[in-house]
Amino acid sequence: MAEVVHAVDDPDPLARGGGAVLRSAGVRVARGLRAAEGAALLHVWLTAVRRGTPYVTLKTATTLDGFVAAQDGTSRWITGPEARSHAHRVRAAVDAIAVGTGTVRTDDPALTARVTGDDGVERLAEHQPLRVVVGHGGIPPRSRLRGAGGPLLHLPTHDVGEVLHVLAAREVRHVLVEGGPTLATAFLVAGAVDELHAYVAPALLGAGRRAVGDLGARTIADARRFRTVEVRRVGDDVLTVSRSVR
Ligand SMILES: NC(=O)c1ccc[n+]([C@@H]2O[C@H](COP(=O)([O-])OP(=O)(O)OC[C@H]3O[C@@H](n4cnc5c(N)ncnc54)[C@H](OP(=O)(O)O)[C@@H]3O)[C@@H](O)[C@H]2O)c1
Repeated sequence: MAEVVHAVDDPDPLARGGGAVLRSAGVRVARGLRAAEGAALLHVWLTAVRRGTPYVTLKTATTLDGFVAAQDGTSRWITGPEARSHAHRVRAAVDAIAVGTGTVRTDDPALTARVTGDDGVERLAEHQPLRVVVGHGGIPPRSRLRGAGGPLLHLPTHDVGEVLHVLAAREVRHVLVEGGPTLATAFLVAGAVDELHAYVAPALLGAGRRAVGDLGARTIADARRFRTVEVRRVGDDVLTVSRSVR
């Protein structure tokens, strides 16, 4: 007799019920095998589908003293090539990348996922995430965002909930928020950040733009707390992956 074994039930109402269909066709169905490991593997996707809004990963690249840009606005490059190449692999695995209009104006980012081949040549990864710009300002006609890469979506709003609902309607399950500080702060204040990817370079600036602005914390008990799930050395830099404790 044919048998199907699955670890985790699909929480999507549209996909649910496959087990019953198989059983009625005479297939034996076993569920829940190594369910905890399956759920851990599918953590991002399960969170997004159960909640109905995308899983949000906030990425920052900072100096040891917490700056994402120098006083003149330059931020290229705070981290080294290994950290940047790691960040590109993350980009290639998410559905969308979001930045505010300030980053578009200052950095002119392409927001593509790029990989370096064995020949040392950098090319676009197979999967390109949706490129999302949040804010009322326009996207300049010659912006690199208009070049090759994923589709471009401009959301002229400051409302984080609206951004998440528009993305959910486009079946975005995982969005990587790449800043800058204004957009990062808005996502944190809205309580919308599920995971933090903090790349920290062994460099000091002493002044400049902080990774995030005022979060309303007036005393240490008000600090936003995350739980560390991974710490990894990437070249000369350190990546800390932590998750929201809510
Ligand atoms: N190292 C890093 O990880 C990193 C990453 C990204 C950027 N940066 C640096 O960050 C600097 C840019 O900072 P930034 O804060 O201007 O960039 P930003 O957060 O990308 O853009 C800010 C703009 O986005 C719009 N916006 C979208 N949602 C908003 C909200 N909820 N509340 C308020 N405004 C909202 C506003 O413009 P409108 O008036 O158009 O609505 C605002 O001025 C640059 O120096 C860049 O190099 C560093």
